[in-house]
Amino acid sequence: MGSVRYRPESGLSPEIEVTIATVGARGDGIAVSTRAGNKPGKIGDRIFVPLTAPGDRVRVRLGPAQTEGRRGQVIAWLERGPDVVEPPCRHFGRCGGCSLQHLGDPAYGAWKSEQVTAALARGGFEAVQPVPLARTPPGGRRRVTFTARRRGTVITVGFNERLSHRLVDLEQCPVLASDLEALIPRVRQGLVEVLPDGGLIDVIATRFEDGIDLVLVGPPSLDLGARQALAELAETANLARLSWQPDLKQPIEPVAARRPVLVRFGDRLVAVPPGAFLQASLEGESALVAAVLGGVGDAAAGGAVADLFAGCGTFSLPLASTGRRVHAVDGNGAALAALAGAARGLPGVTTEQRDLGRNPLSSQELAAYQAVVFDPPRAGASAQVEALAGSGVPVVVAVSCNPATFARDAHRLNEGGYRLVSALAVDQFLWSAHIELVAVFRLSRK
Ligand SMILES: C[S@@+](CC[C@H](N)C(=O)[O-])C[C@H]1O[C@@H](n2cnc3c(N)ncnc32)[C@H](O)[C@@H]1O
Repeated sequence: MGSVRYRPESGLSPEIEVTIATVGARGDGIAVSTRAGNKPGKIGDRIFVPLTAPGDRVRVRLGPAQTEGRRGQVIAWLERGPDVVEPPCRHFGRCGGCSLQHLGDPAYGAWKSEQVTAALARGGFEAVQPVPLARTPPGGRRRVTFTARRRGTVITVGFNERLSHRLVDLEQCPVLASDLEALIPRVRQGLVEVLPDGGLIDVIATRFEDGIDLVLVGPPSLDLGARQALAELAETANLARLSWQPDLKQPIEPVAARRPVLVRFGDRLVAVPPGAFLQASLEGESALVAAVLGGVGDAAAGGAVADLFAGCGTFSLPLASTGRRVHAVDGNGAALAALAGAARGLPGVTTEQRDLGRNPLSSQELAAYQAVVFDPPRAGASAQVEALAGSGVPVVVAVSCNPATFARDAHRLNEGGYRLVSALAVDQFLWSAHIELVAVFRLSRK
């Protein structure tokens, strides 16, 4: 125990002893100082100490004051709390990918569920406690973004270190599906002919039905040698497809397309475009879909459902498979084309490419639907929720990957007369501080 490694941070000053009381929303342990005096770390100061758990007694070096409190860097472990366990990964502590491997499973699960209860409370809703938690087991992640960098002859593939731009060269990642973990050394080898000295790129890997879809984001150009090396990587790693995107604003170009890249949503197979969004784990996706179908329930019998931020149809296609009319809206035309292709022959599925931030569906447009599902990116859906709050839609199902923006959007629904019917926490990012959720709201004013 206590094998967690730290790197010194600059600007650190006094040392104090604290006992961790709770774990905050970003996954850091939080202590409230009981030290007398008027110096940094005085009574009542909140001190955020990464990689600690409730009950840990630690000596910390204090960092500079920030809005919420001070950071503390552990310099000695005096006592470990009752929930602490041995982290399963050798990179834990240094790698910025995980922050909660040291927390035993019951405490970890309770913490994730509490994050959703707290977000609902900030939105003005009281949830039945504890909010149920759908889990993803170790080895369950099917989507990952690695960073790769070349320095001299050395290629590093991994994640950023905690609070740093340095990279951890990954030897293992127990979070990932085994074929994604096995990809790491192959990518390291495959990039030798691709990355120039000093080159830094993102490597986005997603596992679909019949293999991995890999996208390299960042190489400004690919010469013939690089293209040959990537075709070889696709071959040796048995990738379904390998694509290249110079930067996120430019189109994605397939470099090696070996098999169709397919995913099943409901009873439909979707041929997804390169770089398509996919929920991060199958377990998470199944839980989200079940909660969305349950939330829409009978509301849309004979009526229609709007699926906003629909992507390739994770929710639209299962909703349509059960006989509902579905209007799917998203800003990504390629994703919608894939959805529409998969929905061919299913009556009642329509798609619309639309920027829901700048041009949300109006309250009048929304009034045509018996239920609305929305699943925005991390920034949330404030413009769309503004219209939704005044729309009179009987049932709204909110899916969110960010409790902070969810709380803001939920608060607006609360003001619009919606009450909470049910909530589910969904953990797709095992051992990180991320949590996703589904909340079902029903209009109570009439
Ligand atoms: C979290 S993903 C959810 C996708 C889908 N619901 C799923 O579960 O697979 C968010 C989606 O929002 C879309 N999106 C992002 N910003 C948007 C905007 N301003 N207007 C419309 N869609 C947007 C993205 O293209 C993406 O498909």
